[in-house]
Amino acid sequence: MKKILVATVKPFHPNAVDGIQEICSKAGYEFSLLEKYSDKSELLDAVADANALIVRSDKVTREVIEAGKNLEIIVRGGAGYDNVDLEAASEKNIVVMNTPGQNANAVAELALGMMVYFARNQFNGKAGTELRGKNLGIHAIGNVGQLVAEIARGFNMDIYAYDPFEKDESIKKKGVTPVQSAEELYKKCQYVSIHIPANDKTRNSINYDLMKLMPENATLVNTARKEVIDEEGLQKMMAERDDFNYISDIAPDCKDVFEEKYEGRFFFTPKKMGAQTSEANINAGLAAIKQIKNYFENGDKTFQVN
Ligand code: 3PG
Repeated sequence: MKKILVATVKPFHPNAVDGIQEICSKAGYEFSLLEKYSDKSELLDAVADANALIVRSDKVTREVIEAGKNLEIIVRGGAGYDNVDLEAASEKNIVVMNTPGQNANAVAELALGMMVYFARNQFNGKAGTELRGKNLGIHAIGNVGQLVAEIARGFNMDIYAYDPFEKDESIKKKGVTPVQSAEELYKKCQYVSIHIPANDKTRNSINYDLMKLMPENATLVNTARKEVIDEEGLQKMMAERDDFNYISDIAPDCKDVFEEKYEGRFFFTPKKMGAQTSEANINAGLAAIKQIKNYFENGDKTFQVN
C-alpha cells in the first residue's frame, strides 16, 4: 500500500486535509499527517516509509530526501519549488512537481491589496494617493502576473509587462503592453509587481541599477521570494531616494534598518501569506494529491519540475 505523507509546518486548510484523506482512502493509499512540526527530526522520522510527500514551503533538503527511502514523488502544493533539493531528488529518480496556478489568485489579490493599503497610508487616516492612471509593471506574467493584470485593470491602471519567456502577442492578448527589457519596465512604471521565481539566475537580480530607473514616487511590490531582491541595493535606494517605497509579502533580512530609518515607506507582512487563503489551500492541496494519484496510476508527469 502506498503511503502519502502531508508534512506542513503551515497547515493546509482543514478541508484540504480532509479532501486529501478522502482521495487517499478511495484510492487505497495510507494517509499520514505531520503538521506544525518544529524540529527537522520529526519530518525525517515521518518521511522514512512514505512513497509520496506533499509539502508547502517546508524545506525538503538532501537529508530529508535521503531519509525517505521509499519516496517516489514529492509535490510542493504551491508554485515556488525553491524549497526542494531537485538535484538530490533527481539522483534518486524521485519526481518533483509543483501545482502551478492553484494559489495564484490569492497571491494576486494580496499584491493589489497591499498596493491599495500602502497608497492610502496604511489606513492611518491621512490623505493618500490612488492607483487609477498609474503605470503598473508586471515583472513576469505567469499565473500570478496575469491575475495581477486582470485585477489592476479594474483599478484603471496602465499595465505593462516584461517576460522573456512570453511572446509579445500572448502578452497583448492578456490586455497588457509588452516591453522588451526589465530596464524599460522599471523606467516606465511607478508600481512594479515582481513575479519571478527564485533560482540561480534570479537571486539578487532586482538590484540598485534596476530600481534606480523607477520614476518619482515609486513603489516596488514583492509577492515573490525575498531572495530575488539585492538587499544591499535596496538599502542604497531607500537611503538615496525618499520617494522610493518597498512593500513585500515577508520582510527582507535587513528589516531592522527599515524599521529604524524608513517609517512610512515600507510594509511587510509578518509572515509569508500570499497563499494563505482557504481557497488557495484547498486548490493546492487537492491538486497535489490528484497529481500524485495520476502519477501512480497513469505515470502522468505533467507538472514535473526536475
Ligand atoms: C508559493 O510558492 O506557492 C507560495 O509562496 C506559497 O507558499 P506557502 O504554501 O508556503 O504559503
